[in-house]
Amino acid sequence: MTDCLKVSDRRSLNRALSILRAGGLVAIPTETVYGLAADAENGAAVAGIYEAKGRPSFNPLIAHCSDLAMAERYGVFNEAARALADKFWPGALTLVVPHRIGLSDILRAGLNTIALRVPRGPMASIVKALDRPLAAPSANLSGRVSATEAHHVMTQLAGKIDLLLDNGPTDIGLESTIVSCVGDKAVLLRSGGITLDQLEHHLGYRPQAAEPDAKITAPGMMTSHYAPKGKIRLNMTALTSEDGALNFGASNLKAKYSYNLSERGDLKEAASRLFSCLAQFDEKNVDTIAVAPIPIEGLGLAINDRLARAAVSRV
Ligand code: TXA
Ligand code: MG
Repeated sequence: MTDCLKVSDRRSLNRALSILRAGGLVAIPTETVYGLAADAENGAAVAGIYEAKGRPSFNPLIAHCSDLAMAERYGVFNEAARALADKFWPGALTLVVPHRIGLSDILRAGLNTIALRVPRGPMASIVKALDRPLAAPSANLSGRVSATEAHHVMTQLAGKIDLLLDNGPTDIGLESTIVSCVGDKAVLLRSGGITLDQLEHHLGYRPQAAEPDAKITAPGMMTSHYAPKGKIRLNMTALTSEDGALNFGASNLKAKYSYNLSERGDLKEAASRLFSCLAQFDEKNVDTIAVAPIPIEGLGLAINDRLARAAVSRV
């Protein structure tokens, strides 16, 4: 049985804390997407996350911390990592740094690096109250669309987790940007809520994207990811036989089920609506989805990245 409590419900914090302390699983909103959290120091609890999501065990998790001081207990921060943490934490940035000590091995999937993030939102309050990190991937079945609303979590994970905290739609709607600060130069592992321009501004150079076959394979670097059930076709300017259409700005693809990510052509609004639009197609059992062109700039980079991965057909 999965309980659902509104974050505004006074009982929600204590329920979440007692379940997490006992090694249970709680879906908790962050400012990016909903996370599926477990005590990062409890290996069995972290294993429960992989089980609930059906996640391949080689794909490591992010440890969510209350502040840089907590993060530095587990990871070694070089100058670039510290500069980025100072600027963007709390926020939509995950830093991959050399692992120092502590936290369950299964969280890192055996790597000698660790992904750390200081989030905003209810996840931040709960990590502070626990005074220890929470392991949390996005709260969706492995390979599926990330959850930006409580009912997306329920559709995918009901019965597999102990509690869901409902805080309405998340602010950003896309996962965090992931930057590796392991070598001399920062490397982009996943585009996300913090844009490349913002990173460049604070690093003094534009971080290169990791090679697709790099050993530090990350996130959505898995080819098929973020996928709705329907087949996606990108950059469509006209419809053929699709039964779903995803528009942006003035594009006007009309299908049986049509949505617009942002009628006013605002990439921030589009990012925040992307996963809920994809979830709508799932709810309607749409087989084929035509997606209009979306500018490849600012947050559009991350939006196009997610859509490209969602478009890769699964085996
Ligand atoms: O916004 C977010 O980042 C959300 C919220 C809940 O914080 N979390 C999230 O987690 O998107 P997840 O697990 O869906 O994606 C994190 C990605 C994983 O796919 C993993 O490949 C990568 O981070 N990752 C974790 N540890 C890593 C490491 N040591 N080296 C390289 N990549 C790592
Ligand atoms: Mg994910």
